[in-house]
Amino acid sequence: MKKFTISTAKPYDVIVGRDIIADAGRFIAERFEKCKVCVVTDSMVNTLFVDQVMESLKSNGFNSIRVIFPSGEHSKSLNTYAKILEALAEDYFTRTDIIVAVGGGIVGDIAGFAAATYLRGISYVQIPTTYLSAIDSSVGGKTSVNLLGGKNLVGAYWQPSLVLCDYGSFEFLPQEYILEGRAEAAKSAFVSDANLIPFIQKDDFQHVVERCISIKKSIVEADEGDRGLRQLLNFGHTIGHGIEKLSSFTVSHGQAVAKGMVVETKAAYAMGLTSYDISSDIAAILEDLGFDLSVDYSIDDLYHYALTDKKIFGDKITIVVPEAIGKCKLHKIPVSQLKEYIQLGLK
Ligand code: GLY
Repeated sequence: MKKFTISTAKPYDVIVGRDIIADAGRFIAERFEKCKVCVVTDSMVNTLFVDQVMESLKSNGFNSIRVIFPSGEHSKSLNTYAKILEALAEDYFTRTDIIVAVGGGIVGDIAGFAAATYLRGISYVQIPTTYLSAIDSSVGGKTSVNLLGGKNLVGAYWQPSLVLCDYGSFEFLPQEYILEGRAEAAKSAFVSDANLIPFIQKDDFQHVVERCISIKKSIVEADEGDRGLRQLLNFGHTIGHGIEKLSSFTVSHGQAVAKGMVVETKAAYAMGLTSYDISSDIAAILEDLGFDLSVDYSIDDLYHYALTDKKIFGDKITIVVPEAIGKCKLHKIPVSQLKEYIQLGLK
């Protein structure tokens, strides 16, 4: 078992280990007085892990309720968010009570946003059960829901009080969930550590999770509010979020980000922002990891969604420029060049 302390304004621990889910109640009891707990999960994860979390909470003296919503991106809505808030209010949750999110990124983001806003903010614990959420979304306090107009357009920065990553849980998930994690792990490798790639290729979950959390720790500690360095972690997402939305979420987040990373790498080189074109290296690594990199959407449609990117500040958008595998920089371009950027990336 390994512990990382994330030194944000409100510091918290991330514990990485195998078979630690069944001990969730004990880890929580080490950090919280006895209180009410709202366990938030989705219909798939509920059948896999939630009974053991509830059991462990009970044996450590916590009274829990459970809120379950249908699994899938379509649940990441204001409607689901409101249902969680109403469940908290109906059970008279107070500011010393907590939410425990058990599931992937959708569960973590929406439960985190409910925690950030109920009674103007209560504590929450993340128990990511997917490879993707363990290495990325569970750490760093980005919470959100989608709007019809785009992904994650409503949310808050609200750090969890504890993250429990049990990499043993990934083995219970369908294979496509492993591919999802590989995409975000590859993103971390492209942004900051080329040595990580062989470990992603052999699905060495322990090593990849620990290394990705350590990369994320240093980036989030340097830029908790996501105004600078942290935007590197958005590599592939300007295009990827548009692909996800345009496909009505039939193209998964990981698949979409993989495609997006190749488009964004080509575009940055074609715009003269870096001396080397590493897009074919990036594409080869992603193809080897099992990704289909074709993009079947028009420039206009991708441009439309890219305009909702949260890296747009005023009339500039920050883009990620890969210079070598393991080394990326940020560069601002005028939003007026965004369409050309997408066009060059699709060539
Ligand atoms: N998922 C990217 C970030 O937390 O900044």
